[in-house]
Amino acid sequence: MAKIVPNVHRIHTTYKGRNLYQHIIERNGRMLLVDTGAPDTPESLLFPYMEEHGLHPSAIGAIIVTHADYDHRGGTIAIKRRAPEALLIAQKQELEPLRAIEGMPAIDVTFDGELRFGFPSGMRNDNIPVHLYHAPGHSAGHLIVHLPLQRTAIITDAALGEWIPDVGGEPSLPPIYFDAEAYLRTIEKIRGLDAEVLMASHFPLIAGKEQVAGFLDGSRDFVYRVESYLLEKLERADGFLDIPALILQSRGRLGRWKEEADQALQACFHAGLHRLKERGAVAQAPGGKGWSLRRTDLNALR
Ligand SMILES: [Fe+2]
Repeated sequence: MAKIVPNVHRIHTTYKGRNLYQHIIERNGRMLLVDTGAPDTPESLLFPYMEEHGLHPSAIGAIIVTHADYDHRGGTIAIKRRAPEALLIAQKQELEPLRAIEGMPAIDVTFDGELRFGFPSGMRNDNIPVHLYHAPGHSAGHLIVHLPLQRTAIITDAALGEWIPDVGGEPSLPPIYFDAEAYLRTIEKIRGLDAEVLMASHFPLIAGKEQVAGFLDGSRDFVYRVESYLLEKLERADGFLDIPALILQSRGRLGRWKEEADQALQACFHAGLHRLKERGAVAQAPGGKGWSLRRTDLNALR
């Protein structure tokens, strides 16, 4: 089943052994694409899906690029080839990473905090309100798409639970975020939308108030768990510890993903250490190569 809430197509594919869901907001054949997948996603998945559902690529009015990761913007060139009139929309802070991508078409519409519009724009009383919000953390210019009438938020990678599953539902990767404070604020921002359905790119559908709250709590708690772990290790350390050493010692502590995925902890450890540093809990070694503890009162840090 691809259409779970009115006007939203949610289409499943896989990428690197994980789920990848594509989202199309549709009203009377007009389409708004949320992300474009990997480079082959349009040809292998999106165009055949559209054809099967009587939709035409030329009716894509706009493409919202939630962030510049390969599996979220990789198909943009292929989409623009079939829908040259489609507007490209992105948050301002994602512009630079998007512009740095070879062959990336120009971004037509940018916004800062939020952008609200009705879709399709020509149909005054019959359009769907679409709200875009800046939702940083996973990336600096990540955005989320809120459909208030459908009580649905398409969050793609803005919150990533306690771990990212593989296609079999087993832990595949830790959550990846580069700014812990911004990520926590984004999680609460999503909570504030009061959505009943969250659509994330790499997770099965999150539907129902309890599931939504559970996913957001899990996303937040992972950040705290990482910080507790970092404080505990630094407290026991003799001198400075660097991120590779902290990763090595974390095996089995933060999640059940395979050992090779531990390297993906780089991002959240880096983010966690910087958040703790800002709170005066840890200090960085001269030259930046390692971390040590300053104070352990974690409750005072939240
Ligand atoms: Fe991503």
